[in-house]
Amino acid sequence: MATIAIIGAGIFVRTQYLPRLSEISDLFHLKAIWSRTQESARAAVEIADKNFSGVQCKWGDEGLDDIIRDSSITAVAVVLAGQNQVDISLKMLKAGKHVLQEKPAAASVKDLETALHNYKSISADAPRQVIWSVAENYRFEPALVECKKLVAEIGTMMSVQVIIEGSMNSSNPYFSSSWRRDFTGGFILDMGVHFIAGLRMVVGCEVVSVSAMTSHVDSSLPPPDNISSVFHLENGCSGVFVMVVSSRTPKILWRVVGMNGTLQIERGFQGQHGYLVSLYGVDGQSKSSFFPFSGVTEELKAFISDVSESTLKKGSELVAEPRLSYIEGARDVAVLEAMLESGARKGELVHVKRF
Ligand SMILES: *[C@@H]1O[C@H](CO)[C@@H](O)[C@H](O)[C@H]1NC(C)=O
Ligand SMILES: *[C@@H]1O[C@H](CO)[C@@H](O)[C@H](O)[C@H]1NC(C)=O
Ligand SMILES: *[C@@H]1O[C@H](CO)[C@@H](O)[C@H](O)[C@H]1NC(C)=O
Ligand SMILES: *[C@@H]1O[C@H](CO)[C@@H](O)[C@H](O)[C@H]1NC(C)=O
Repeated sequence: MATIAIIGAGIFVRTQYLPRLSEISDLFHLKAIWSRTQESARAAVEIADKNFSGVQCKWGDEGLDDIIRDSSITAVAVVLAGQNQVDISLKMLKAGKHVLQEKPAAASVKDLETALHNYKSISADAPRQVIWSVAENYRFEPALVECKKLVAEIGTMMSVQVIIEGSMNSSNPYFSSSWRRDFTGGFILDMGVHFIAGLRMVVGCEVVSVSAMTSHVDSSLPPPDNISSVFHLENGCSGVFVMVVSSRTPKILWRVVGMNGTLQIERGFQGQHGYLVSLYGVDGQSKSSFFPFSGVTEELKAFISDVSESTLKKGSELVAEPRLSYIEGARDVAVLEAMLESGARKGELVHVKRF
């Protein structure tokens, strides 16, 4: 059984990682939780103690070294401020541990290139394969997985719309998160990777170029807080991506219009939070199904399964889950960076960096 540690003890660890990991606690052993400060590590361990026994509390440089030196810990989840994640992930990979790093993969295309270069040299020196996964969870949402199959039924794609009206106001627990305020691209980059992941997955091809307008309207949010972009897909189809960070009308929608029908995925609530998937056919008929959220759990399960398999196979012939690969996370960041760059240049066409 895989033995893991969690590096980070922030809101997402306390409210998502710990409850979701609890649902699959028979698949692994949670040995330690680390935070920069003792206080924050202790608070997370206290929550973890409800479902896991004997979780060690680690903090500061010394605590991090303990985890690095502990050869029984074969994998870590890195859930830190966006600015620090890549450095810590690489440190852990160098120590031979598999890493599941929270999104975004990195803060910019330049950082992604450096990160991939370093990962390559670590992998070349490593005695066995070390997996670097990025946790974005949308590629594991059952609704989006279903749409990836259904999209074939709508025939030739003619238009795509991705409409995101967020509700990032002072009631949101992430609103005051300080690192997101110092992050280039603000909430558009941090949250946007999810919606780009969903887009790329549903259309089944890459975004090649974009043109965008951005603005900063709500001064309580870091800039920009609103983006309207036109994107061009590799299959020849174009679409629009609209994202407002803080609106009064929360909405998350992907809509793909084809010659033989339309496929739509919209966030909703039917006793549980999830997505309503609707397929409109040529005959005017439509069918809909509701899929409750389970992306985070599915993703954690996939990572733990990769880690367990690598222990069994000693790493040699392991094919890690492609939806978790660092490259996929990098591609999502690259699309948003191109949009933000175009926005900064008043809508000039920008080609998306290929990874
Ligand atoms: C403990 O596990 C249960 C069952 O999986 C879960 O519903 C609950 O949220 C977990 N509690 C914490 C504090 O993580
Ligand atoms: C689209 O519809 C036409 C006519 O109804 C049909 O011939 C064609 O096979 C359909 N294409 C797809 C991809 O379903
Ligand atoms: C978004 O930006 C546009 C300008 O590009 C502005 O007209 C509009 O009011 C902004 N919308 C919101 C909801 O902030
Ligand atoms: C934040 O947005 C949510 C959803 O639109 C809304 O219910 C809530 O009242 C808003 N809070 C503030 C402080 O505006």
